[in-house]
Amino acid sequence: SRLAVVVVAAGSGTRLNGGAPKAFVPLGEHSILHHALRGVFAGPSAQVVIVVPAGYENAARAAVATAGGHDVTVSVVTGGASRQGSVAAGLAALDDGVDIVLVHDAARALTPPVVFERVFDAVAAGAAAAIPTVPVVDTIKRVDVAGHVVGGVDRSELAAAQTPQGFRRSVLAAAVAAATADHTDDASVVASAGHTVVTVEGDALSFKITTAPDLERARALVAPHAA
Ligand code: C5P
Repeated sequence: SRLAVVVVAAGSGTRLNGGAPKAFVPLGEHSILHHALRGVFAGPSAQVVIVVPAGYENAARAAVATAGGHDVTVSVVTGGASRQGSVAAGLAALDDGVDIVLVHDAARALTPPVVFERVFDAVAAGAAAAIPTVPVVDTIKRVDVAGHVVGGVDRSELAAAQTPQGFRRSVLAAAVAAATADHTDDASVVASAGHTVVTVEGDALSFKITTAPDLERARALVAPHAA
């Protein structure tokens, strides 16, 4: 199998308010994107496509260099207004021979390389789609517009979806081309097209940097330990 990893890094980071598009906000000495790429480059070998906001193409190439991607085939492309548009832009840059695609949020900057291996292995073994998940620890409520609890949800039936999400290339390309509704992840696009999505074990370190406290937590995790 030939693998490509599409790293979507074209979000604005409105909820983070970090002074730059989220992937380019500093996490210690380097950017969120640099840390995300370190994990990608330490995973299974692949073509890597990085999707960035217009004007950040050179900054992305700089992050490739600091993250150690010298021997990797890297393409940098400009993203779209929605995450789905950014994924479509990334898919358009895939090499001909690629048959398995992993789509990864740059915002999950500390994802361990072993998670990339698990997702890739599941698709290489025959799954059309595979996603890493972790159990839901909170009790989840359904809430109406007035803020009143209208019901519970059985937690044992829930799992929190992370990235990288892996797909047979033909399956993802066809599902993305056919998608009309707005989806918050790629597995949902592929499930809407009728495909089975399998799960593999995710990791707590794959949390998505979304808010300022998430950024603080990530910064603490990459900080050098006091001597
Ligand atoms: O906004 P959210 O944190 O859910 O975005 C998840 C990932 O999708 C981020 O890595 C973000 O950079 C990416 N994204 C994108 N293009 C957009 C919106 C989000 O690449 N238009």
